[in-house]
Amino acid sequence: MTYSLIRSALFHLDAEFAHGLAIKALRFLPHGKRPEAQGPLAIRVAGLDFPNPLGMAPGFDKDAQVPDALLGLGFGHVEVGTLTPLPQSGNPRPRLFRLEEDRAVINRMGFNNGGIEAAVRRLQQRARSGVVGINIGANKDSVDRIVDYQTAFTAVAPLASYVTVNISSPNTPGLRALQDKGALDELLDAVLGLRTAPGCDVPVFLKLAPDLMSEDIDDIVDVAMKRRLDALIVSNTTISRPPLRSRHAAETGGLSGAPLRDLALQRLRDFRKASGGAIPLIGVGGIASAADAWERIKAGASLVQLYSAMVYEGPGIARAITGELEDLMRQEGFSNVAEAVGTEASR
Ligand code: FNR
Repeated sequence: MTYSLIRSALFHLDAEFAHGLAIKALRFLPHGKRPEAQGPLAIRVAGLDFPNPLGMAPGFDKDAQVPDALLGLGFGHVEVGTLTPLPQSGNPRPRLFRLEEDRAVINRMGFNNGGIEAAVRRLQQRARSGVVGINIGANKDSVDRIVDYQTAFTAVAPLASYVTVNISSPNTPGLRALQDKGALDELLDAVLGLRTAPGCDVPVFLKLAPDLMSEDIDDIVDVAMKRRLDALIVSNTTISRPPLRSRHAAETGGLSGAPLRDLALQRLRDFRKASGGAIPLIGVGGIASAADAWERIKAGASLVQLYSAMVYEGPGIARAITGELEDLMRQEGFSNVAEAVGTEASR
């Protein structure tokens, strides 16, 4: 059965319920073959070997239930989470909306997750193979958010290929203030200092919002370089509202998918310009095709991720994009992805 038939059935269901079905299907269906480790799209970033540059963005598998199934769909890496120290139920439903006419999603989930303890137990059961990053956040009611990031980091680092510090969700009030220079420096100092603990010496990435001003970007790059962060992820969902057609356009929350594409690309260019290529970048936001991924790579992304496009294109999207990406790379005369990174970055 083609995905377009499944999709029309799924789109009759509440979006969050449909997402739950997708997770169940991935849990119980046999896993596909993982991408070849040393294939033509392989790239090394932050000391990790990625079989291809396309990853599953966090938010899809918040509780680390199906990382291996997602690797079996052809993603070169999977980022699970966001996980917070304590379980929390998130915002009241409905909180997830498909904007079909716009090929977009609005969510105000609010870090609903089963907490790190349950996820750690689950991750301990799997063989440590494939690149699985773990994205961490703070609980909504936390009295000390920095301590939350520290607690989460020490719990998950021994099971992660890398850990992402997520300070860019628009759905936890005040969280994005951690992107301010002083607060960010303090947070990174606190988290990165824990890498000396046993099993915790993993690369640390930082995930940012697209709704940043150019002064913020310069400040973030300064702190990231000073603290020797391993990569910046650009970007999370936007609170801005480009023109939209769907009836859900006015819902509160973060917008993702096609209408985020230009903004996320622009922010990636801004970060590339501010960093001069000195820190690896991961491009996320509105990527739905090999051409989108390739454009992001040439603008400076060593890796890319997607989420919303899978809602519209289905589980075959990773294989479709990576297959075409290889063709694009060869057509333009590159023999590997790393060579192409940043070749069209503005100086
Ligand atoms: C997200 N995203 C997200 N990001 C994150 O760091 N932690 C999270 O828990 C979530 N949760 C989440 C839920 C839902 C329903 C969506 C649609 C998105 C953001 C996601 O990882 C990505 O950055 C954006 O969605 C932009 O990429 P796409 O969706 O346009 O490819």
